[in-house]
Amino acid sequence: MKKVLVAGSTGYLGRFVVQEFKNRGYQVRALVRNPEKFRQPGPWFAPAIDNLVDEVVFGDATKPETLAGVCDGIDVVFSSLGMIKPDFVHTCFDVDYQGNMNILDQALKANVRKFVYVSVFDAHRMMNIPSVQAHEKFVRELQAANIESAIIRPNGFFSEIGQFVARARKGFMFWVGEGYQRQNPIHGADLATVCVDAVKGSELEVEVGGPEVFTYHEMVDLAIEIAGARPVLLPLPFWFADGLVAAVGIFNPDIRDVALFATTLSKIDIVSPKYGTHRLRDFFMQCKSLGN
Ligand SMILES: NC(=O)c1ccc[n+]([C@@H]2O[C@H](COP(=O)([O-])OP(=O)(O)OC[C@H]3O[C@@H](n4cnc5c(N)ncnc54)[C@H](OP(=O)(O)O)[C@@H]3O)[C@@H](O)[C@H]2O)c1
Repeated sequence: MKKVLVAGSTGYLGRFVVQEFKNRGYQVRALVRNPEKFRQPGPWFAPAIDNLVDEVVFGDATKPETLAGVCDGIDVVFSSLGMIKPDFVHTCFDVDYQGNMNILDQALKANVRKFVYVSVFDAHRMMNIPSVQAHEKFVRELQAANIESAIIRPNGFFSEIGQFVARARKGFMFWVGEGYQRQNPIHGADLATVCVDAVKGSELEVEVGGPEVFTYHEMVDLAIEIAGARPVLLPLPFWFADGLVAAVGIFNPDIRDVALFATTLSKIDIVSPKYGTHRLRDFFMQCKSLGN
């Protein structure tokens, strides 16, 4: 039986990936930073993993001494380990780049066969964003290393728009620009299938998004319809949003980086090859059932 290490196992995507590996008969070792999160169910309907994994290694990828031997006996490493919100302690280079480098070091020492890593779709169009730079710096190192690899390049995840229905209910929604840029967000379960397929596949890079394409405006309209609410809608002009990002950056570069992601995405179409079966309408209906 093949053995896989899942790094990022307590995150939105990592949980679905753990589940998918188990469904396909892999033995799963999870790298976990926070024991509390390990015991809890995941965000946005991502599965609990404490009853799925075969082994747990508690460690912090930014502290290499906690990773010693983490890849011993492992055939495949999968990593969706990353920092999608600032923690005010680490930079994205500490986590997305160096944290994954520390795992790669362990994988090389243990002669792991393949390393599957999650970066972002169309990274080359977003190299103004530090977290994208950090992801891609790791991608270059991984592809130059003496190990087979696959890079998954997904569109935005459903988890990123999970708040839409709640925001519509709370009566206030805003976005940047006119909201006509298009994207095809993807459900964690659909993306997990692609990630696990990549273990046996021969593609070096896999671009993927969900089965439906929406403008930002259409996603807001769908959330409003499902919430049955009539929120105040506030489109922010680009000049205002860009100015805000620059001003925030003076005081807190970490928050600036997250805001820069949002403003960059609001200016370009991000449509990747369509995959999967999970519909946004069904996901928003589920979000409504949370009642928050
Ligand atoms: N969200 C999106 O729309 C999107 C789109 C394209 C690409 N991506 C990329 O896909 C990856 C996964 O995204 P996600 O939404 O699943 O993120 P997530 O829910 O925040 O999961 C990130 C995972 O990384 C773990 N982690 C972070 N720092 C760590 C450290 N120092 N040591 C050990 N574990 C650490 C987290 O552990 P804790 O649970 O302890 O925090 C969590 O398990 C990220 O790299 C992200 O940039 C995301």
